[in-house]
Amino acid sequence: MTMFRHGVASGEPCPTSVSLWTRVSSAEPEVPLRWVMEREGADGRPHSEGGRSGPAVASFLDDHTVTVVANDLSPGTWYRYWFEGPGGTRSPTAHTRTLPADGGPVRIGFTCCARYGLGHFTAYRMLAEERCDLIVHLGDYIYEDADSWVTERLPDPPYEAQTLGDYRRRYSQHRRDTDLQALHHAAPMIPVWDDHDVADGAPRESDIAARQRYRDGQQAWREWLPINSRRSADDGIDRVISIAGVVDLVVFDARFSGRQPHDRSGPRLEPHQRRQILADSQWDLLEATLRSSTTPWRILANQVQIGPMRLGYLPSIRRLGMRPVVNPDQWDGYAHERRRLYELLAATGPSLLVSGDLHSTWYRTLRHEGRRLAQELTVTSVSGETYAEAFRMRTHVSPRLLERLIRSFNEGIRFMDLYRHGYAVVDVSTEHLDATVVLLDSVADRSSGAERVALARLVRRVAPLRSSGTVRS
Ligand SMILES: [Fe+2]
Repeated sequence: MTMFRHGVASGEPCPTSVSLWTRVSSAEPEVPLRWVMEREGADGRPHSEGGRSGPAVASFLDDHTVTVVANDLSPGTWYRYWFEGPGGTRSPTAHTRTLPADGGPVRIGFTCCARYGLGHFTAYRMLAEERCDLIVHLGDYIYEDADSWVTERLPDPPYEAQTLGDYRRRYSQHRRDTDLQALHHAAPMIPVWDDHDVADGAPRESDIAARQRYRDGQQAWREWLPINSRRSADDGIDRVISIAGVVDLVVFDARFSGRQPHDRSGPRLEPHQRRQILADSQWDLLEATLRSSTTPWRILANQVQIGPMRLGYLPSIRRLGMRPVVNPDQWDGYAHERRRLYELLAATGPSLLVSGDLHSTWYRTLRHEGRRLAQELTVTSVSGETYAEAFRMRTHVSPRLLERLIRSFNEGIRFMDLYRHGYAVVDVSTEHLDATVVLLDSVADRSSGAERVALARLVRRVAPLRSSGTVRS
C-alpha cells in the first residue's frame, strides 16, 4: 500500500503563495516529508528555474495530514508539486496555480454536496478538466449519515459519523475516490463547511455532546482540507480574495459562525423576526469589503440560498392575512438579515451571489424595492439527492408540481433545474462575467454524459464604474 494513497491537494491561492496538503498512511507517530514545486512552462513542461521545496512533518496528532505554505512564487503561474517520504516514497504529482496579479481573466469553479453512497463523483472529475484558477467548495464535502443507493459505494464507517475517529474515516474514504483526487490534483480549493460536514441541520450548542460533535466534525474538516491558515478552532473560515483587480470574491460562513437556530416549527416565519444568520464581525467584513471594493465585479459565496423561495401561502396564525410557505433553513428564515444584505448590495453596486445546499440549479435576478439588485446562482450537488428526489421521497408528490409552484410564486427565475447533478464555472474578465453550469445525465455510473448550459453573460457598464452590471441575454 502506498504511503500517499490519499493523494495531495492545494488551497488558499495568492499571487505569490499556495498551501500544499498531503496525508501519509503510517504507524509512526511522526513522518518527515519534503515538498517540491516546479514551474510549468506554457507547453506544460517543467521550468528549470522558479521551483521551490521545503520540509514538512506529518503527525498523528493531525491524523497524519499536513499542510504547508509555499511562498515566493510567481503570479498567474501553473506549478506541479509532490511530496517525498522516507525510503524514496513519492506522492502523485499534481497541478496548482497562483492567482494572477493583474488583469485576469479568472475562472472559478463552484461545487458542493457530495454524498458518497448516493452516486459517483463524476462532477468532480469533469470540473477537474475545466482548468479553473480556483475551486470554491460550498460545503457538504462529506455527509455524516450512512445512506447508500449504490451498492459498490457503501459509506465508511457504515453508520452515522459521531466522533473524531468516525469523521476521519469518512474523509479518508472520500479522499481515496479517484474523481475527487482528480479535482484536488487539478486546481487549488477554497472550502466552506456546511451542516452535513458535522450533522444535518447542525447540532445545538446547548448540549455538551453536540458541542463535542461540532468540534470533532470541524477538526476533521480542518485536517483534511488544504487550508493552513484556519487550523485553530478559534479561527473563522470567512475569506476575502481580491483577484487580479478584476473580482473581489467573498466566501463566508452562514451555517455555523453566527447563526441562531431557525424556527423548526414549520413554514411560519414572519418578516419582522430578528434571527441572526451572520455574526457582527461577519457583517463588518462584508460591509468593509463591499464599500471599499474597486474591482469591476464582486462575487459573494455562502452555503445557503439568499433570495426568497416561496412555495405558496397559508393563513397566518399570528397575524391577519396570509404568510408565505418558505424553507427557513435558507436566508428565508432570516428575512431581517436578508434585508440588511440587500440594502448593502443596493448601496455598493452589482454582485453575483453564489449558494449551494439546495441540490438543484437556479439562476435568477433578485430585486429590492422594485430595482434589479443582483444575480444569484445556486449550484447543484455532486451526488447528494436532487431537490426533485428529496421532494418525491418526503411528499410522494410529483416534483413537476413543485416546479410549477416555484415558477408561479417566485419572480426573476431565468433558469432552474431540480433534477440533475453537476457543477458551475464562472469566468470573469474586466468586461464580462459568464456563468455556466454543467449538468449530468446520471451519477449511477461513471461514464455519464452531461449538458453544458451558458446561463448568462453580464456586461460591465464602463461609466459609472460601479453603477450596474446588466444581463444581456
Ligand atoms: Fe447538501
